[in-house]
Amino acid sequence: MKILGIESSCDETSAAVVEDGKRLLSNVVHSQIDIHAEYGGVIPEIAARSHIETINPVVNKALEDAACSWDDIDAIAVTYAPGLVGSLLIGTLAARTLAVVHDKPLYAIHHVEAHVYANFIVEQKDTSSLVLPSKQPAFPMLALIVSGGHSQLVLFRDHGDYELLGQTQDDAVGEAFDKVAKIIGLPYPGGPSIEKAAAHGDPHAYKLPKARMENPYDFSFSGLKTAVLRSVQAEVGKDFTFPSHELAALLTDKQRYDFAASFSRVAIETLVDKAERAYNDYSPASVVIAGGVAASRPLREELSRRLPLSIEYAPMSLCTDNAAMIATLGYYYAQKRPADDPYALEVVPSISMTSTMWA
Ligand code: KG4
Ligand code: ZN
Repeated sequence: MKILGIESSCDETSAAVVEDGKRLLSNVVHSQIDIHAEYGGVIPEIAARSHIETINPVVNKALEDAACSWDDIDAIAVTYAPGLVGSLLIGTLAARTLAVVHDKPLYAIHHVEAHVYANFIVEQKDTSSLVLPSKQPAFPMLALIVSGGHSQLVLFRDHGDYELLGQTQDDAVGEAFDKVAKIIGLPYPGGPSIEKAAAHGDPHAYKLPKARMENPYDFSFSGLKTAVLRSVQAEVGKDFTFPSHELAALLTDKQRYDFAASFSRVAIETLVDKAERAYNDYSPASVVIAGGVAASRPLREELSRRLPLSIEYAPMSLCTDNAAMIATLGYYYAQKRPADDPYALEVVPSISMTSTMWA
């Protein structure tokens, strides 16, 4: 079964073809990062307009790369939630139209749940050269989902049967990376630029707090971000009355690297502490990480060092936003539930993933 996936929830326009929920035939990603970097974050109106311009060429390229015609495609899967409303509308409108015109079943996909399914892609066309996991993760599977909008620990007993163990009570971890990068004067997106800067810094230079939570699997990153801000203010001899966007210019490169390293260490340790605790409490057969922050090399290294099982990571390009993960999850939906109505599908900008979506 070949599924065409479409993703447009934030600032990537993507289309992909995946066979049988595991074999990658194509994955085309048009990133708007260069457009938004100028503003230090995603501007929703600009994102939506860019999706309109690129969605058709991206879909056509995905079919071409997969050497597929419409006759070869068995179903379409599209992100309907969560995300920026204008961005979601473009992808879903394209998918709904294509489903009607080409008479294909349509599956509405939750973006965050799909991030987890990047880990189920284990085969590819001969011409591709991604380093993929050798096999699909076994159930029960513990998933650490860490992106720009979400930080969650989820225990999957099977496809469509999972339990949310904990989640962030304020900022997502990727959001914290992006905000801290802005404070210390590193470019957007913050995750990769902090990773690069941190390699030159001392991870123990500044003392930063780890939040204590009532539910040990919950996260909180807003206090950590504020602690970085206060620490930067103290370091350059300014207080809260000084404009925060002017602080970065007063830091030396050494201070910038040390802040990047100290923040990164605490953020990553926090994620791994909780994943380790959940591992010990639930003894899952596999552990996966998902979402843009899963592209972090230091996070992968720390997790592998602390957990007593070998973890096979998805390639970086399947961790950040892409349609391959959407098409992959679409396959498992198609095994379990009826297709959605292309005439009635609505976008939902803000909703958590739940097993009930599989019913
Ligand atoms: O999943 P994603 O591409 O978009 C959302 O669904 O949010 O995640 C984007 C987030 C951004 O906050 C970005 O800073 C972060 O992932 N990120 C990283 C790294 N690469 C991307 N965070 C830490 N280290 C990285 N190497
Ligand atoms: Zn994402």
